[in-house]
Amino acid sequence: MTQRYANIIGWGKYVPSRVITNADLEKTLDTSDEWIFTRTGIRQRHVVSPDEYTSTMATAAAEEALESAGVRARDLGLIIVATSSPDYLTPPVSSQVQHALGAKDVGAFTLVAGCPGFVYGLATAQQFIVSDACDNVLVIGAELISRYTDWNDRATAVLFGDGAGAAVLQVGDEPSGVLSYVLGSDGSGAEHLILPGGGTVAPPSQETLDQGLHYLRMNGRQIFRFATRVLGKALHQAIQQAGLTTDDIDLFVPHQANSRIIESAARYVGLPREKVFINIEQYGNTSAASIPIAMCEALEQGRIKTGDTVAFVAFGAGLTWASAVVKLGEPSMPTPISRLRLSLPSRLFDPITRVTRTTSAGLMKALAGCLALITALRRRGAKRRKDDG
Ligand code: ACO
Repeated sequence: MTQRYANIIGWGKYVPSRVITNADLEKTLDTSDEWIFTRTGIRQRHVVSPDEYTSTMATAAAEEALESAGVRARDLGLIIVATSSPDYLTPPVSSQVQHALGAKDVGAFTLVAGCPGFVYGLATAQQFIVSDACDNVLVIGAELISRYTDWNDRATAVLFGDGAGAAVLQVGDEPSGVLSYVLGSDGSGAEHLILPGGGTVAPPSQETLDQGLHYLRMNGRQIFRFATRVLGKALHQAIQQAGLTTDDIDLFVPHQANSRIIESAARYVGLPREKVFINIEQYGNTSAASIPIAMCEALEQGRIKTGDTVAFVAFGAGLTWASAVVKLGEPSMPTPISRLRLSLPSRLFDPITRVTRTTSAGLMKALAGCLALITALRRRGAKRRKDDG
């Protein structure tokens, strides 16, 4: 059996249009643009409007990724939605996204691994593809943290934003795609980033509401310490596992939590500033959505191209961390044929594909026949010349 690789062939993102700037937060919180920017690198964040949910953002990002990959939703083998902020505790948001995409009967699950959820999703998709279980897998990172944020708590309100990003992975036979990954977890630090109410430990009640247990709580200093301890190491491990060195990495696309944390990870492995992609200034920390959103922007800005090698690293609630090294395969831009394929109902496109296949098979047969005839004629001519001579 030929070796199977998990290529990333399409990317998409969605961010809500509403923006809250640091200057807006200055009006309601004891904070300043100067403090937020120098400590985190954030200037603004995008926040949903009342009629937007995690599922709607995830679906929009996924539609863009599917279009750029030229893959129909119903041709997917699996959908993975990485999020810690689903529409409901149950049913899983992944099924809502599957239904909204029209991915009839396609398996879907929600993956909860904090901010590294998207990288956990890539690793999972890679396993499904290399083991021959699926040919096409959609991985989405979507997060709506603004509805779990206490907008009176300056420790968290300044950090997070909403958004979604998605990638389509497809089987390939060239050694590219997800080359390596590292997944890690340390539950001993659970209390440092926690949404204490609403689960089985503290089910929703008047008391949990009164105590504000349905809001995200964070011990920023502890998380900062943890992140600077694990990130560089995880990044180094993924690069080594891919059989590469830091020099082979064309772009480092990290989880956008804090520009100081990103710089510390880059320093640890010796990556120069120009090889580090940072867009936290505009989006804040969008948790599991931050890497795919950043990746889309890096592609849009031409910071990476086919054949380039990209390193991801993330950390978050759990506590968890994950890193991966990915080599970009085919360009992830929609081709005319993929656009046509997506714009036509399958009952129209499938016969076209069949006719094209039948026609090309017929042409190949005719060509082979011509070649056989020419060879036979040449042989007969050679024999006649020999007989005459
Ligand atoms: N505005 C103004 N002052 C503030 C604010 C604020 N928004 N928040 C805290 N302060 C004050 C503190 O009260 C403290 O004052 P004090 O010295 O009088 O006690 C001072 O600023 C310094 O506070 P620190 O917490 O020490 O500031 P630090 O430099 O650690 O920066 C920050 C805080 C930005 C939260 C940092 O610790 C951090 O980024 N941690 C990681 C957080 C993170 O990444 N979380 C998400 C990870 S998981 C995920 O991505 C979903």
